[in-house]
Amino acid sequence: MQQALAKINIVGVGPGSPDYVTPAARKTVAQAEVVIGAQRSLNLFASEVKGETMVLTAKNLNDALKHAVESVKKGKNVALLSTGDPGFSGLLYTVLKSGMIKASEINVVPGVSSIQACAARLAISWDTACLFTFHEGNVTAEEKNQLASCIKNGKDAMLLPDSRAFSPKNIADFLIDAGVDKKTPVYVCENLTLDDEKVTSSSLEQVSQQTFRPLCVMVIKSNRQVKQQK
Ligand SMILES: C[S@@+](CC[C@H](N)C(=O)[O-])C[C@H]1O[C@@H](n2cnc3c(N)ncnc32)[C@H](O)[C@@H]1O
Repeated sequence: MQQALAKINIVGVGPGSPDYVTPAARKTVAQAEVVIGAQRSLNLFASEVKGETMVLTAKNLNDALKHAVESVKKGKNVALLSTGDPGFSGLLYTVLKSGMIKASEINVVPGVSSIQACAARLAISWDTACLFTFHEGNVTAEEKNQLASCIKNGKDAMLLPDSRAFSPKNIADFLIDAGVDKKTPVYVCENLTLDDEKVTSSSLEQVSQQTFRPLCVMVIKSNRQVKQQK
């Protein structure tokens, strides 16, 4: 009988609080012989990790991926920790894009995304919202225009800003310049599920004067929907 191929487990670890780490994530990490993740993510599994660990940083991503793939090829069970859910602006895309491993060799363990935590905190339904990530400089003119169109078409937008390339202030300035009403309601949810979580209820005009912490989700409510809700 052919032996089952080892897989890379890309494990969603949730938005930060241990309360949002799933039992499936804990079980996968406990069984892994190699666990790779940011220090903040590794800390969530201090009592589960039995295997070798590698701390993932902004600078060693390629080396970490190579190590993960080589370990899998040696038949080792690998867990790669991804904040939130791996499939939303997470490590799943990074791993697939690297071309080092095929989708059939990946097992994704879903996690609670910061988008879900934000929607829950604001008690909003996100099934009709437009979702965007501008994280890590992922900011194209096309995506920015799609964001403006989404709001102008009466939909809510939920997005991950980038504190350097497209911050909440930059986003507010861009939308006002694109002709979106400056009184449009905006929420910025910082450090969701963590002890210093903060939710700011504001407007495009006000956000354009403010700065926020890097870990944040921004929600732009279309005026049209707000009027309909009255
Ligand atoms: C690389 S992306 C990862 C997103 C992740 N895969 C998810 O599903 O939430 C990192 C960005 O997610 C957002 N984020 C992650 N954790 C967060 C939290 N606890 N509170 C607010 N935003 C968070 C921030 O915008 C941060 O810059």
